[in-house]
Amino acid sequence: MAKAQMLFPADFRWGTATAAYQVEGHNTNSDWWLWEQGHILQNQRSGIACNWWANAESDLDAAADMGTNAHRLSLEWSRIEPEPSVFDDHALDRYRQILQAMHNRGIEPMVTLHHFSNPLWLVEKGDFNRQIVVEYFQRYVSKVADVLGDLIPKWITINEPMVYIFARYLGGVFPAPQQMGLRAGLEAAKHMLMCHAAAYEVIKTKYPEAEVGYAKNIPILEAKPGSSFVSKWWTRRMDSLFNGMWLDAVADGRMRTFLGSTKIKGLAGSYDFIGINYYTRFYLRFPPPKTFFETEWTPEAVVSDGNYGEVYPAGLYRAIQRVLKYNKPLYITENGVPDAADRLRPSFLLTHLREIWRAVSFCYPVMGYYHWSLIDNFEWDRGWTQRFGLIELDPATQARHLRRSGELYSKICYRRGISSDMAEQYAPELMATMFPGESPQKVIG
Ligand code: FCB
Repeated sequence: MAKAQMLFPADFRWGTATAAYQVEGHNTNSDWWLWEQGHILQNQRSGIACNWWANAESDLDAAADMGTNAHRLSLEWSRIEPEPSVFDDHALDRYRQILQAMHNRGIEPMVTLHHFSNPLWLVEKGDFNRQIVVEYFQRYVSKVADVLGDLIPKWITINEPMVYIFARYLGGVFPAPQQMGLRAGLEAAKHMLMCHAAAYEVIKTKYPEAEVGYAKNIPILEAKPGSSFVSKWWTRRMDSLFNGMWLDAVADGRMRTFLGSTKIKGLAGSYDFIGINYYTRFYLRFPPPKTFFETEWTPEAVVSDGNYGEVYPAGLYRAIQRVLKYNKPLYITENGVPDAADRLRPSFLLTHLREIWRAVSFCYPVMGYYHWSLIDNFEWDRGWTQRFGLIELDPATQARHLRRSGELYSKICYRRGISSDMAEQYAPELMATMFPGESPQKVIG
């Protein structure tokens, strides 16, 4: 028997998350397919990825066996609308099958409409550089709502808009747009806000009961301890651009940047919940290094594979606190760690879920947790070099293996919470700080 338990409400969603391009395989009509040639670490390719287009069902079986009751997935626009206005019934049928398969297994779908990838035809038309994208997006969303809407209780319009803008318009690591640079990026962000508002309206008109939100990556951005006044000022500016702008705009309908303030029609209040994607804290400094973020951490920091970032659980609590002022239900729509050897993930799960438990215990409205990811998948520009899965995948043989952290997450889902016996078994190094009464020599003040 566990001596201490941190239990969650009975209706809390225990989920996992994936995105279409990363798991389906052979998305040949997508801009990423083209971009893969020459732009991925070690020249890797997505290939058949996790083979979900042919067989998502067996991984959904595994998700159900693990005791999860929710999953966040995305739709590949380029499959559904391979040519402008030409919708592929076969693709829509396949998505119906997958969504139905989730319902049959007691897994509630949360569906993302745009997760980093575009149809090639849209890119030719300038995609988010041009305002016409709003009409195209509206047409696509309307079709999806008509054909699949009865199976979708929860929607995410756009995934991580600011990560997308930074990686694509400034960083150059995502498929190149027609115009790059900060000005073009902010114009694209405006068009994304418009797309969000249009999608919200389309879905809510057809399905007033549906819950519709967006997924915002909310990293903790800080000036490194001891940095200059200018670096602190710069960090605040970056934080309001990266984090604050989108959150505020969807709340009050105004996009505010250093270029000015624009009112966007239909945007104010166009959301039923906020999806928080949380991974890490970044240090910033001015002038910024080439990588934009600092890649050096304090000596005590625990850093995940490929220098991806510091493990910083308190940041999740801070991200939750930050958005309480918007007065909306919250879902943690992504949270995870690249960790091929599964050295960090067990304790990562326990420490991050403890932060959510703290929030829930204060009656903060966190309604669910979607771990990124159910299975190792194609990690964009970093290819297969970063492994986020609770299930390990060998992309060459397609062999799967449940990691120890997957076993732990399964216990968490069945128990609906975390406990001292889990820490003892899966991450004993946490005992002294998380359950200090078990090691009497350590007293936490
Ligand atoms: C997020 C993305 C997701 C995945 C994780 C690791 O930024 O939304 O697709 O790449 O990071």
